Amino acid sequence: MYKINDNYQKLPGSYLFSTIAKKVSAFTEANPDKNIIRLGIGDVTQPIAPAVIEAMHKAVDEMGHAETFHGYAPDLGYEFLRNAIVENDYKSRGCDISADEIFVSDGAKSDSANIQEIFAIDNKIAVCDPVYPVYVDSNVMAGRTGVYDTNTETWSNVIYMPCTMENNFVPEFPKETPDLIYLCLPNNPTGTTITKAQLQEWVDYANKVGAIILYDAAYEAYISESNVAHSIYECEGARTCAIELKSYSKNAGFTGVRLGYTVVPKDLKCGDASLNAMWARRHGTKFNGAPYIVQRAGEATYSPEGKAQLKEQVAYYMKNAATIKTGLQDAGFTVFGGVNAPYIWLKTPDKMTSWEFFDYLLENANIVGTPGSGFGPHGEGYFRLTAFGTYENTVAAIERIKKL
Ligand code: MLT
Repeated sequence: MYKINDNYQKLPGSYLFSTIAKKVSAFTEANPDKNIIRLGIGDVTQPIAPAVIEAMHKAVDEMGHAETFHGYAPDLGYEFLRNAIVENDYKSRGCDISADEIFVSDGAKSDSANIQEIFAIDNKIAVCDPVYPVYVDSNVMAGRTGVYDTNTETWSNVIYMPCTMENNFVPEFPKETPDLIYLCLPNNPTGTTITKAQLQEWVDYANKVGAIILYDAAYEAYISESNVAHSIYECEGARTCAIELKSYSKNAGFTGVRLGYTVVPKDLKCGDASLNAMWARRHGTKFNGAPYIVQRAGEATYSPEGKAQLKEQVAYYMKNAATIKTGLQDAGFTVFGGVNAPYIWLKTPDKMTSWEFFDYLLENANIVGTPGSGFGPHGEGYFRLTAFGTYENTVAAIERIKKL
């Protein structure tokens, strides 16, 4: 008789955004006349930039001719894309990263879930609390997190680093030494970030204790302050302790196109074992590459036209962020984030729990947001709104909230 992976049975509830989607669809069914504004999941609303669409059309045409047709992509991704990544995302920032350290994928979500596979099961992970749920859930599935305590909503074998208004959302070095440290900066869900000097301290710490930082830089394009690092490799020593995950979902609107990449420097060594070689082995065995058409789309994000168009798109969403932030402040809310990230993190009013405020907002303003507690126990009493809606909906949502 076959056996299942029992670790899946340990997962409490369903994936956060699936739970929200179910709740919203039940509400919509019961209230078909209500005009719902969705500021929950961080999904983009603006169309793909013209320069990218043009590149995709061209690539589609190439696929229709024997001379220019493309089958399986090379293991690590096409060189034209990896070279563009090196030039634009790393060399231009003084980071020493080469094309054979870049692994092109179908997005940062799957990479952030899969990367733990190359580490031993008895490694101890440290996560910020609140945190993007994929990091913890994927380690639960692997059997690395111990026992779940339903009272504290924590796992016995996970180190939690609280990030709240009390510590300015800056994680502190944990008392217990971790092996793998997940950092997402600028942060999802709090929309806050740390300075390059503070990130350097994390790099120094990881090198000192022999830990790896799994650095999710999905929101890097939204950084507006000059003292914030766009890549962890801007910090000295990061090549010996950090893996960086990048996504085209948020900076180029590829949530439905699917493209990302992971950087695994060759200096990452555990004894004789090279993490770069291990990830290459995993990538080659379990993945057949992002589609040619999509990799050409990724390349187009680095053309002069592509860059200019994406800059406009980011500015569009950041105008939404400012609209939400100032609107909520005017309405008396305590608000964080929204300066270097497209998320606004607010304190729920009147001591409501995060889920109480979710229901209140859905029922009374027909707005969908994300309850902070869905991201971890220290997210309780907070709530996330995304700036990825349309400007019109964003303005309408704030007007509705002000009327509550
Ligand atoms: C979020 O809303 O947190 C993100 O959109 C989820 C994701 O990027 O997978």
